[in-house]
Amino acid sequence: MLLNYISFLSVLISTTAFHDYEYGDDYEHDSDQFREQGRSYPQSPIIDAVLKSYAPNYVPKNSEDIFDFLRDSYPLPAGLQSPYDEYDFIIVGAGSAGSVLASRLTEDKNTTVLLIEAGKPEMILTDIPIMAPYFQSTEYAWQYYMEPQPGVCTGMINGRCFWPRGKAVGGSSVINYMIYTRGRPQEWDRIAAAGNYGWSYSDVLEYYKKGERANLNGYEKDPTRNRNGEMPVEFARYRTKLIEAFLEAGRILGHPTIDYNSPHQLGFGYVQTTITKGHRQTAAKVFLHRQKTRQNLHILPDTYVTKILINPQTKTAYGVEYVRNRLKHSVLARKEVILSAGPIASPQLLMLSGVGPKEHLTSMGIPVLKDLPVGKTLYDHISFPALIFELNTTDVSLNENKMLNAKSAIEWIKNGDNVMSSPGGVEGIGYIKTPVSNDLDPIPDIELLSIGGYILVDGGPGGSKAVRKGMRIRDAVIDEAFGSIDRISKDTWSAFPMLLHPVSFGRIELKNKNPFSHPRMYGNYLTHPKDVATFIAAIRHVQALVATPPFQKLGAKIHKAPYPTCRDIPFDSDEYWECAIRTLTATLHHQIATCRMGPNNDSLAVVDPELRVYGIEKLRVVDSGVIPRTISAHTNAPAMMIAEKAADMIKATWTHP
Ligand SMILES: Cc1cc2nc3c(=O)[nH]c(=O)nc-3n(C[C@H](O)[C@H](O)[C@H](O)COP(=O)(O)OP(=O)(O)OC[C@H]3O[C@@H](n4cnc5c(N)ncnc54)[C@H](O)[C@@H]3O)c2cc1C
Ligand SMILES: *[C@@H]1O[C@H](CO)[C@@H](O)[C@H](O)[C@H]1NC(C)=O
Ligand SMILES: *[C@@H]1O[C@H](CO)[C@@H](O)[C@H](O)[C@H]1NC(C)=O
Ligand SMILES: *[C@@H]1O[C@H](CO)[C@@H](O)[C@H](O)[C@H]1NC(C)=O
Repeated sequence: MLLNYISFLSVLISTTAFHDYEYGDDYEHDSDQFREQGRSYPQSPIIDAVLKSYAPNYVPKNSEDIFDFLRDSYPLPAGLQSPYDEYDFIIVGAGSAGSVLASRLTEDKNTTVLLIEAGKPEMILTDIPIMAPYFQSTEYAWQYYMEPQPGVCTGMINGRCFWPRGKAVGGSSVINYMIYTRGRPQEWDRIAAAGNYGWSYSDVLEYYKKGERANLNGYEKDPTRNRNGEMPVEFARYRTKLIEAFLEAGRILGHPTIDYNSPHQLGFGYVQTTITKGHRQTAAKVFLHRQKTRQNLHILPDTYVTKILINPQTKTAYGVEYVRNRLKHSVLARKEVILSAGPIASPQLLMLSGVGPKEHLTSMGIPVLKDLPVGKTLYDHISFPALIFELNTTDVSLNENKMLNAKSAIEWIKNGDNVMSSPGGVEGIGYIKTPVSNDLDPIPDIELLSIGGYILVDGGPGGSKAVRKGMRIRDAVIDEAFGSIDRISKDTWSAFPMLLHPVSFGRIELKNKNPFSHPRMYGNYLTHPKDVATFIAAIRHVQALVATPPFQKLGAKIHKAPYPTCRDIPFDSDEYWECAIRTLTATLHHQIATCRMGPNNDSLAVVDPELRVYGIEKLRVVDSGVIPRTISAHTNAPAMMIAEKAADMIKATWTHP
């Protein structure tokens, strides 16, 4: 059995086991597309054979979903065949926020919750941290594309930026890079100072800690961390020696090596992850799996909510409409409907249900129940993934061809501490403030991610090419820009600079009234010159880091990428870097503010500081889309924190109505 498991893993890793979407198409109706095209599952006869040895009854061709027997399952309790007609709370979306919220609300046995999720439960492969980039092109991700924007993502297929988001029980925490970050104290204090009572750093710190199970060597006594919550937070067990060069170079340039989540100072540190024993920990694994026997928590995976039911006279939400097994149903909420569908789908559902900008809804033919600036604000974090340094060492950096094989699979199963436990190659994080920043507080404007390799570590003969596919980079760009890098005998290191506080922001709109259509997403990246200037300043800072002895000892030399999109621009000029950033403009998937939280004098606010939708009773939004302004954080921990806080606010509402 163990042997089967191992060969199964290694086969899946060494072939591109999942169906890849064809690039560039603007996919809609995700799940229908899969079924109709019948190409959603691995086609390899080897995989068929391995799967067969797992399940003797396995029939390769006619099965609806061959992975079902390897997935977690969430049957309704007590042998129920269908959900009740009515629940206290209906939560739409079992992502990072929805999973936490459902878990907390059902701690009270007398509170019934229906949690509805469009995606499927996670499975054995999503547990493997190094496979993080692989899932962006599978059925575990919504295949969203940003609307075309000239001058960004010019090296991507069809010049479009790809915006995958998790579609799974567990949401984006099933496909993310597992990086754990909280943001700076001053950022939350500013959110509170704008009138968002209850959201100061000291308030949110309690909720970050509540669900945290920190196991960070050297920080055991830190009062800002909690060792007794649910979600493991640990240093990555596997890292290359290159992280030491990054941290040492940082110290030389005045960046202390610290817990980068510490509220007290800025610095560099080892990446902290939601991984334990080498396994990915998702919001579902931690907050739903152990709770699924609760009689009062009903979970419906593979179920698509199409509308929030709102009484047009009383302006009160009373249920949702959903499609399950191609049949339409509705279900009622006694107390509240809560949208946790994430920063793209929550605003989409609001607008489909008549809550949004009046003119826009009218132009779509949707009766307006409440005129609100839904989707008018959208911030994102973009990064440049190709600041690559070639080293003169061998066998230090990550290399899929050398490292991912049956042997490493065996080791991972036994000990969980080899390369397979690396969070997609991310090893360290550093917060810096470039000279472009005019912020008086200790708030960084760039996060640097230290990577023990580069974006093509997965690209050798027979390689998965998962990273470039996940970003939708054109092969011609890859070949021209990086083809000369000797990936077999030389090592590489790279830093991804991530722009923390873009001035430019985008928006989201409906494309039409069809709930299965994707909305129109406008990133509006790099339209303010300060954003470009900050990126260039960050690149200069990385060059200064690499000029220090720890990197020079490794013979580090910058890779002069000849982008086909940047011909005739002299290498290393500011103009060159601007062109490079506009060629490979990579989102790190932190879209926020589409259902912006704000006090009632905030003309851009959609929800109040208790996350209640303005003008509609019994309706809240609880997900990363409520974060009103940029924070220096990847958004998984913030989404879980928001849900922790929301759970207490909701309990308080209904304890003392
Ligand atoms: C590829 C990738 C890498 C990332 N890496 C990191 C990282 O390393 N660290 C980090 O902190 N953050 C990371 N993020 C961001 C982070 O994971 C997300 O911000 C966070 O998970 C968002 O939580 P959420 O609850 O707001 O939404 P989600 O977790 O996205 O959950 C929304 C859920 O709602 C469901 N849903 C949507 N529409 C419907 C509908 N109509 N009916 C039913 N269900 C619906 C979706 O399927 C999804 O499961 C990453 C994100 C991605 C996509
Ligand atoms: C339990 O919930 C029901 C329905 O919401 C309510 O009528 C009843 O009073 C509650 N019981 C307790 C002990 O809270
Ligand atoms: C809104 O009100 C808060 C006090 O609740 C105040 O601090 C803030 O400056 C106001 N904002 C605007 C835009 O008027
Ligand atoms: C790499 O380059 C550095 C600096 O030039 C040099 O000191 C070191 O010996 C070189 N290492 C190897 C393995 O060539």
